[in-house]
Amino acid sequence: MPGATVIDHPLVQHKMTHMRMKDTSTQGFRRLLREISLLLCYEVTRDLKLVDTSIETPVSEMNAPVLAGKKLVFASILRAGNGLLEGMLELIPSARVAHIGLYRDPETLEAIEYYFKAPADMNERRIIVVDPMLATANSAIAAVERLKQRGANNMCFVCLLAAPEGVQRFNEAHPDVPIYTAAVDEKLNEKGYIVPGLGDAGDRMYGTK
Ligand code: PRP
Ligand code: URA
Repeated sequence: MPGATVIDHPLVQHKMTHMRMKDTSTQGFRRLLREISLLLCYEVTRDLKLVDTSIETPVSEMNAPVLAGKKLVFASILRAGNGLLEGMLELIPSARVAHIGLYRDPETLEAIEYYFKAPADMNERRIIVVDPMLATANSAIAAVERLKQRGANNMCFVCLLAAPEGVQRFNEAHPDVPIYTAAVDEKLNEKGYIVPGLGDAGDRMYGTK
């Protein structure tokens, strides 16, 4: 699927604006990220399959829908992915979780892996990969490649902010993995930061640097 689906819900857009503001505190940034993650999760799970099950209400029996199939997996790209993960787990507390530790080398912007842990049966589950930022897309491309090596074959990628360059590179590398984002910004700068962007998501979440 080419391009990216922009989740233009007014609440998402309002909260994004507050996350972008440079004077938003660490505490405020984390709270907004958790709130947005609930809204993004709601939107990107619209197509989950349902199956009818027989239940008894206090009044009568009925067939009622529940989620079908194996529990889905949230795959969080560390560190900043955990901000999205937290809220999503509140909506789907039974989900399984994969962690992929990656950081961008500040000189080369290549993604360096330092941790990987995922459920064994990834080939049988739907996987939602989360990371607030898609800049060069080196991190997202590497994470999805790693998950494919583990058997994953039903994935989408969810972020807050993407650069057009990153969307194009990710689409070329993984045309089978749709991207959902709250915004696609103007460009990348010479240091690989999204412009206008929101700065370094991990640093703003955790108050580092
Ligand atoms: C940030 C962000 C993405 C990556 C995006 O992480 O959370 O993982 O940069 O950039 P890219 O598309 O150019 O790869 P960072 O490497 O700063 O690590 P952190 O989450 O540990 O702060
Ligand atoms: N990673 C971030 O956290 N922010 C950017 O703008 C680019 C990569």
